[in-house]
Amino acid sequence: MTGEFPAVRPRRLRRSPALRRLAEETRLHPADLVLPMFVREGLAEPRVVSSLPGVMQHSRESLLKAATEAVQAGVGGLMIFGVPARRDAVGSGATDPDGILNVALRDLSAEVGDATVLMSDLCLDEFTDHGHCGVLAADGSVDNDRTLERYAETAIAQASAGAHVLGLSGMMDGQVGAVRAALDRADFTDTSILAYSAKYASAFYGPFREAVESTLQGDRKTYQQDPPNLREALLETRLDVAEGADILMVKPALPYLDVVRAVREEFELPVAAYQVSGEYAMIEAAAANGWLDRERAILESLVAIRRAGAQIILSYWAVDVARMLRQRY
Ligand code: PBG
Repeated sequence: MTGEFPAVRPRRLRRSPALRRLAEETRLHPADLVLPMFVREGLAEPRVVSSLPGVMQHSRESLLKAATEAVQAGVGGLMIFGVPARRDAVGSGATDPDGILNVALRDLSAEVGDATVLMSDLCLDEFTDHGHCGVLAADGSVDNDRTLERYAETAIAQASAGAHVLGLSGMMDGQVGAVRAALDRADFTDTSILAYSAKYASAFYGPFREAVESTLQGDRKTYQQDPPNLREALLETRLDVAEGADILMVKPALPYLDVVRAVREEFELPVAAYQVSGEYAMIEAAAANGWLDRERAILESLVAIRRAGAQIILSYWAVDVARMLRQRY
């Protein structure tokens, strides 16, 4: 070897699929993935969500079947969203033990129970007639502290229904502390909190709004974070840690990998990221047009989120990917 040519040739380890597999620094596993699922009150049959090809609004029955399949595919957990038939100003369906989400959690708890991690979305937007994540003050703004009282009641309803992990997605100040205190007072000391610590006011939630039949007019910019801000995400996360969060989450995922990385470096708690509906729809739409290789694009997007530091990823592709991974490794 003369000085002209490098002795270290990184291409040596890229020569074959087996060498590349050996050299992989980041590897996805089905257990890293959490499947978000929608259950709609009053459905006899599952209904497609046109903006999310492959995603369903489930009936109570079809939810159980799909959940069982997901558990068999080896996914790490399920995140359940409820879509009620009727809504009101305070989101009564969220706290009603017979509300669709609470009923579905009891069904799932009986059906798959401790074979998986059962997570529930803890927010009011699916249950309010105005579509905001909290209750409104007389001037139409979202009333932070009155909303915390509703979240505390919702937490008890979901924990009683069998949720192992509560996903606090509302972005009210103090929500983790309020829910932790309520759970502890009611002896649900073992129920965990997945805090949507850094949840941005994102255009990438668009397709989700169809999945939950959102009635929201306007936006959530007075409570969700402003996309340009990173330091504010660390502040939000620090508060959630102090208030008793068990898992920290960044959302959306791919456009916010710098936030995932920063949270991973700053805190010791497990870090999750939510690959949201718009991230899913973009790839599905491009693949349907033949513009992207669907499977490669999906795996690349997920491994990027993992590489940035998320150890748990919520993804509508969780079951698909679990199957892809079984073939790959
Ligand atoms: C609020 C909630 C939203 C999502 C998850 N929880 C909607 C919002 O904040 O507007 C979006 C998830 C997605 O886009 O996949 N309960």
